Amino acid sequence: MGNRRIAVFGAGYIGLVTGACFAKLGHEVVVRDIQEERIAILRNGGVPIHEDGLAELIAQNSDRLTFTLDAQEAVRDAEVVYVCVDTPTTPSGDADLSRIWQVLDSLHGARHLAAVVVKSTVPVGTGARVRAAMDSAGLHAVGYAANPEFTAEGRAVQDFLHPDRVVIGSDDPDTTKLVAQLHDGVDGPVVEMDVASAEMVKLAANALLATKVSFTNEIATICEATGADVERVVGAVGLDHRLGPHFMRAGLGYGGSCFPKDSRALRALSGNAGYAFQLISSVIEVNDLQPRRAIQRLKEELGGFQGRTVALLGMAFKAGTDDIREAPSTIIASRLQAEGASIRCWDPLVRALDGAPWSSTTRCPSPLEAMDGADAAVVVTEWPQLQELAWDEAAAVMRRPLLFDGRNLLDPVQMGAIGFTYMSVGRSTVRGTA
Ligand code: UGA
Repeated sequence: MGNRRIAVFGAGYIGLVTGACFAKLGHEVVVRDIQEERIAILRNGGVPIHEDGLAELIAQNSDRLTFTLDAQEAVRDAEVVYVCVDTPTTPSGDADLSRIWQVLDSLHGARHLAAVVVKSTVPVGTGARVRAAMDSAGLHAVGYAANPEFTAEGRAVQDFLHPDRVVIGSDDPDTTKLVAQLHDGVDGPVVEMDVASAEMVKLAANALLATKVSFTNEIATICEATGADVERVVGAVGLDHRLGPHFMRAGLGYGGSCFPKDSRALRALSGNAGYAFQLISSVIEVNDLQPRRAIQRLKEELGGFQGRTVALLGMAFKAGTDDIREAPSTIIASRLQAEGASIRCWDPLVRALDGAPWSSTTRCPSPLEAMDGADAAVVVTEWPQLQELAWDEAAAVMRRPLLFDGRNLLDPVQMGAIGFTYMSVGRSTVRGTA
């Protein structure tokens, strides 16, 4: 069927990757966002976020990729509108869909469109509401599809082009076919279903991944109490092909723009349906406690934080991204400050941050500088730079060589041999022998 003209609404992580990948597949793409600065950067050949391979992809496909603030301009020549706007959590725990409704408002009179496709994560039932809104706006002939995204930050381009699956939910076969054809050239199977099921696939997949993380963190806590080593346990458990090794890394809990929000949204969705989804509530609770437990353990080791300096190594919610949305680092920094500690922090990608707790921390250009004179250090993000660090030099510059490895990144025996008191998650504390 050839190439299409696609308007992508939202130039965030998902929208930009979607737009750039569709341009690579040969489609003509216009990406629209409401943030002037973001569009200005893109128009000047820059990329406002860090995502592996994205800048290259945008540069290589710039003849098929334009950026605009103007919704009407984006829609005017489009055949397909892709909705990639964010859906934050409201105070009730539901997803805030106001940005999706704003996109729909700008489709007023756009009868020339072949389809509207929602990629944003939404509660089950949203598609039916959007369909009804489109019908009452006279857009009966325009198809609707849910096409949830499963890309992970840091590897989003790779995940888009080589996905485990492309899920297309539509109640109309022509629209399903159209959206499937947009993905010609994508290396992964297309799975077709109804709109509501497609919406649920996304929530269920993220909830199960989050469950694996919280489950592993619970096992880690029991390992600490019993002398077992969570890394050995999980390594062997993950060899069972029915379970697999993925999303079983113990740590400071999951963060980011997806798992925390989507697990709350699923809890709210089931609550709204009159069902108490106890398992997901426990997953959320375990995750909320995980960084607090780490701080409590460190506090006991240090004998309190008042007047102490703590180095935070990594602020991003995971390695490979500059994103700190719902990052454990924010909770850890806030808790440390509340307990009276001063914070020196380092991260290779996160840009300057305003507001609490970051405005009253000292930002350092390297991990060693962050640890200079510190009473303790915490590995918050699993940056590879930390694996390669000269930890003997770190021990020498710290006031006291005490490390809480919140990502089980380092080898306990080696750290002990260097002289560190080395604490980690789900493994026994090692006391320096040097
Ligand atoms: C996640 C999903 O992996 C994607 O499939 C999904 O499309 C995306 O959410 C979304 O809904 O948009 P992402 O949030 O980018 O992607 O990050 P992940 O790599 O999944 O990690 C999430 C969090 O879990 C991170 O804080 C990570 O450190 C933590 N995690 C992950 C663990 O603590 N342990 C693990 O074993 C795995």
